[in-house]
Amino acid sequence: MKILVTGAAGLVGSHVVRRLAQGHEVLALEHGDLDISDRAAVRRCLFDEKPALIFHCAMLQVDDSERLPAQAQAVNVAGPAFLAEAANDIGAEIVHFSTQYAFDGEPVGRLPYTIHDEPNPLNVYGRTKVGGEGAVFAACPRSFVVRTSWVYGSGKNSFLCTVHDDLRAGRKVRAIDDIWSSTTYVGDLIDRVMTIRATGRYGTYHVVNNGICSYYEFALEAGHVLGLTRAQIDLVIEITHERDMKRVAVRPRYTPLRCLLSEQLGLPPMRDWRAALAEYVGSGSME
Ligand SMILES: NC(=O)c1ccc[n+]([C@@H]2O[C@H](COP(=O)([O-])OP(=O)(O)OC[C@H]3O[C@@H](n4cnc5c(N)ncnc54)[C@H](OP(=O)(O)O)[C@@H]3O)[C@@H](O)[C@H]2O)c1
Repeated sequence: MKILVTGAAGLVGSHVVRRLAQGHEVLALEHGDLDISDRAAVRRCLFDEKPALIFHCAMLQVDDSERLPAQAQAVNVAGPAFLAEAANDIGAEIVHFSTQYAFDGEPVGRLPYTIHDEPNPLNVYGRTKVGGEGAVFAACPRSFVVRTSWVYGSGKNSFLCTVHDDLRAGRKVRAIDDIWSSTTYVGDLIDRVMTIRATGRYGTYHVVNNGICSYYEFALEAGHVLGLTRAQIDLVIEITHERDMKRVAVRPRYTPLRCLLSEQLGLPPMRDWRAALAEYVGSGSME
C-alpha cells in the first residue's frame, strides 16, 4: 500500500515512517516538503502521488497555537481539511490524529472520556484540533480520527520521552504531580491504528495505553524500571505543580481516555502504561 505521511520529522510521523516502511511504500513528507496549510500544494501532491492512505501527523504545538492562533487555525483546521478533501477526491483513506485536549479535564477523578463526552477544550490548540476533527469528517467519509494522549518514544526532546535518560544519568528532573492523563507509547499507537484501519470501521477512536498517571508518577515508574531505589529517585526528582509552570496555554487537569469503538470491534485492551514504559526504557530508546 502507498502511504503518505505528513509531519514526518515529528514524533509520531517519524515513527510511522520507520514502522510502516517494511511492507509498504511510504512517502515521508516533512514541513519543508509540503506545507499542509497550502491548499494548492496539498492537492498537487496528493493528485501526483495518489496514496491509498494518508497518515496526517503534522500539527502546531500547544503553546505555539496559543501564541499564534491564526497559524493554529491554518495548520490544525485548514490543513487537515485540505488533506481530507484531496483524499476524498483521489479515493484515499485518512488517519487524522487528535488529542485529549479536546476535553476540559474536570473534575479530577472522573470516568475516562469516551466519544459520548462533549468536547470542551480549554486552549487554542484544543479548539483547533477539535475543529480539525470536524473538518476531516466533513470532507472525507473514509476518515479515522485518532485522539491520543501524552505520546512518547525516541527522538523527541520532551519530558515523557527523555525522563528515563535523565534519571539514568543522575540529572535533576522537575516532575509535575497535579495533572494526569493516559500515556501512549508511540509503537503501540501505530500498531493499534493499523489494526483499526484494517477493520474499515471509520470513526473517532481514543488510542492510549491502559491506566492513568501524572508526570511525577511516570517518572517514578521510569526510575523503578531502571532499578533505582526510592531514595535514589527522590534525590533527583523535584516535584513541581502545573500552576507554577507559567506556561503560555492552560492544560486540562485530568484526561484519561477510553475507546468505545475499539471495544465494539472486540479489540483487546491496550497494554498497561507500565508495561509499555518498561519496554521503552528497556529498549535504550533505540526503537
Ligand atoms: N505528542 C503528543 O503527546 C500528542 C498527544 C496528543 C495528540 N497528539 C497528536 O499527534 C499528532 C502528531 O504529534 P507529534 O507529537 O508527532 O507532533 P510533533 O512532534 O510536534 O510534529 C509535528 C510536525 O508537524 C510539522 N508541521 C508544523 N506545521 C506544519 C505545516 N504547516 N505543514 C507541514 N508540517 C507542519 C512540524 O514541523 P516543524 O517543526 O518543522 O514546523 C513537526 O515536524 C498531532 O496531530 C498531535 O495533535 C500528540
